[in-house]
Amino acid sequence: MQIFTSISFMKPRIKVFPSLFAADFGRLADEAKRLEDAGADGIHMDIMDGHFVPNLTLGPKALAAVNRATSLFLDVHIMVYNPFDLIEKLVESGADQITFHIEATEEVEEILRYIRTCNVRAGLAFNPSTSSSLVMPYIGKADTLLAMSVNPGFGGQAFIPEVLEKIEDLHQEIQVRKQDTWLEVDGGVNNTTAPMAKKAGANVLVVGTYLFQQKDLQSTILALKDE
Ligand code: DX5
Ligand code: ZN
Repeated sequence: MQIFTSISFMKPRIKVFPSLFAADFGRLADEAKRLEDAGADGIHMDIMDGHFVPNLTLGPKALAAVNRATSLFLDVHIMVYNPFDLIEKLVESGADQITFHIEATEEVEEILRYIRTCNVRAGLAFNPSTSSSLVMPYIGKADTLLAMSVNPGFGGQAFIPEVLEKIEDLHQEIQVRKQDTWLEVDGGVNNTTAPMAKKAGANVLVVGTYLFQQKDLQSTILALKDE
C-alpha cells in the first residue's frame, strides 16, 4: 500500500508554458531546446495577423521548425481573424493545442469541434475586456480556457488584476460541472502575479518576458510552479 507522507499530491498540478514571443527569434530551435532542458511543461507560441492585434509574429513554418527541435507540448495561441483557415496548417506543423479568440469569430462552437476532430486540444481565449459569462457556455466544449491578463499583441505588459475575478468565476463553474478544463493565464505573469493567478484557479501559466530575464530558467520555472 502506498503511503503519502506529504500533502503535495493534493495541490493542483501547475504547468508552465514559456512564451517564445520573448525568446531570441534568431535562434528559435535552440531556445526551444533550452526550455526543454529547463523543465518547461510546454512551449507557448503566439501567432498574430496584424489585424485582430496590431502586430505580426510567427507562423506554421516556424512552428514546424520548433516541433523538429523539441518533443515538448506545443501550445499555439492564434490572435487572428478567420481562425478556421489556419487550423489545418497548424495541425500539420505539430500543434498539440490550438487556442483562438472568442472575439475573433462567430463560429466558436464549430471551430472548437473542428480542432478536436484533428486530435488536438481546443482552447478558447478571451480578452481582458470580455465578460466571463460569454465564455461560460463553452465549458465542456473547450479543453482549455485562456484568460488574457494583458491586451493581446505585445509582450512585457503589466498584468491586469481585474482578470483574477473572471478566473475565479470560471474555476468555480469548471468545478461545479466536474470538468478537467485547463485554465490558462497569459500576459504579465511573474513571481508576484503567478501566485495570484494560481490562487484564483489558474493551472497553466504562460510566462514570457519575466522568464527570459532570469539567468536560471530551471529554478525560475520551479519557483513559478510552487504554491
Ligand atoms: C501577448 C501574448 C503573450 C505574451 C506574453 O499577446 O499572447 O503570450 O508573449 O508575454 P509576457 O509574459 O511578456 O506578458
Ligand atoms: Zn499568448
